Amino acid sequence: MSDLNDLLYKKNYTVQDIEKLLSLRNTEDVERLKNRANEILNSHIGDSVYYRGIVEFSNICALDCHYCGIRKSNKQVDRYSLDRETVVSSAKWCADQGYGSVVLQSGERRDPAFVDYVEDLIREIKKETRSEKLPEGVGITLSVGEQSLETYRRFFAAGAHRYLLRIETTNEELYQSLHPASQKLEERILCLDYLKEAGFQVGTGVMIGSPGQTTAMLARDILFFKEKDIDMIGMGPYLVHNQTPMASEGQMEKDELLQLSLNMIAVCRIVLKDVNIAATTALQAVVPDGRERGLSYGANVTMPNITPTEVRSSYKLYEGKPCMDEGRQECKSCLLGRVRSIGRDVAFDQWGDSKHYAARK
Ligand code: 5AD
Ligand code: FES
Repeated sequence: MSDLNDLLYKKNYTVQDIEKLLSLRNTEDVERLKNRANEILNSHIGDSVYYRGIVEFSNICALDCHYCGIRKSNKQVDRYSLDRETVVSSAKWCADQGYGSVVLQSGERRDPAFVDYVEDLIREIKKETRSEKLPEGVGITLSVGEQSLETYRRFFAAGAHRYLLRIETTNEELYQSLHPASQKLEERILCLDYLKEAGFQVGTGVMIGSPGQTTAMLARDILFFKEKDIDMIGMGPYLVHNQTPMASEGQMEKDELLQLSLNMIAVCRIVLKDVNIAATTALQAVVPDGRERGLSYGANVTMPNITPTEVRSSYKLYEGKPCMDEGRQECKSCLLGRVRSIGRDVAFDQWGDSKHYAARK
């Protein structure tokens, strides 16, 4: 279809255009979508894959998102918080392996002790990971939820420079069905603005295939990323966690969920061009080669799990999360093999900042 060519090479996209692209399912069309995404990846940022070693440093959470396995109300979770030495040595391990960058992720808390703790972790990691290759230490991405502007400023001043805060959906009604009434879409959007104001490279994303979500909603999400001038995208398929209120609603059939998730990556690449896009772990929960597939649809970032094996199974956000019994060393060789299996390579010893961020500065 020659209309598809027009669509793939458009300058400005409407909701309807994006819906059409997200809905492509026949093999030939999907192949063209994927090729266009790769063409843009290569011309705008190149095909290197960037690693961010992820440390899930605490599963204590003050929120109660209806979909999430570590929600406050799930009393079956063993709660943990890693001590400073463990987190810092994990970051050092990353630096030693040539992973230029780490992600510190945890459940969401706003209490002063938590904020102090995170700030301290950032300073310590910065200090401890300086080397000839990384004179300023490893790059630090935070993923610790909604905080005040002042807190974001403190984290930035301490040396973190990227932040992930998924919006989950930009549809008001869907947002409310996924969250308790006390959690507001408006406030989450405000936090994205604060993060930018504080100086961060800002990452966001959505859960794909959550109950009640439509393709039109996903199309609007992508336009939201564009309007907000977002630097990094991290999205993944919604998967049921059995100990949550949403378990009874089920999840999308796996083949469809996978294709929709992959099309989301390709379309984000086509519409947003020079942003960093992650091939997330949840893709690997749908199919074993999910992350490689994500990369082959235009993603350029992936996150090896560095969390100590003893606590990994307590950071289960959804069923079927991979790498639960593995250690950081196993994930290291496994993931490198996965990246190389699709003819790509990892760019070691660099932060791998978003080109979009550099361009908007
Ligand atoms: N399925 C898929 N993704 C989930 N997340 C939380 N729970 C689930 C689930 N059941 C994602 C959310 C959150 C990120 C840390 O993990 O998008 O922002
Ligand atoms: Fe962890 Fe493969 S990436 S075991």
